[in-house]
Amino acid sequence: MTETVVAFTPERLEKAKEIINRYPEGKQKSALLPVLHLAQEQFGWVSSETMDYVADLLNLQPVEVYEVATFYTMFHLEPVGKHVIEYCRTGPCCTMGGEEVFEHLRERLGIKAGETTADGKFTVKEVECLAACGWGPCFQIREKYYMHLTNEKVDEIIDELSK
Ligand code: FES
Repeated sequence: MTETVVAFTPERLEKAKEIINRYPEGKQKSALLPVLHLAQEQFGWVSSETMDYVADLLNLQPVEVYEVATFYTMFHLEPVGKHVIEYCRTGPCCTMGGEEVFEHLRERLGIKAGETTADGKFTVKEVECLAACGWGPCFQIREKYYMHLTNEKVDEIIDELSK
């Protein structure tokens, strides 16, 4: 069995060190979130090997990385599709029709929350408030927000991203 080797590219390693060096000796844990983001950008998701690598880099116990990476839904703990749709399932969005739109989205893609389409294009994740409550229902794909969602808007977005 071949062992998975996890390592940042030289450029990313330099960036990680620059972030780590912003904090005083012994406070490297403060760099954990941005370094985990760097890792997810490179590897697409955060595996246990990646968490071990990040722990080593920050001189932390692996469990200190696991507890953070597993707490935040923005970190993907298994492989995901090309587009990760992070759908808000919190109250204000739900009262604006979010439940129905979410059901439409899942039907359109033929998957449940937490799953990835067979073609590897879309993953749907349920998340808590995205801080866009006044513009709900909404979802996020990477840094981009999609707001005031309707079934028709969802179809347009999926059509566009499927091209
Ligand atoms: Fe959906 Fe806040 S409740 S963004």
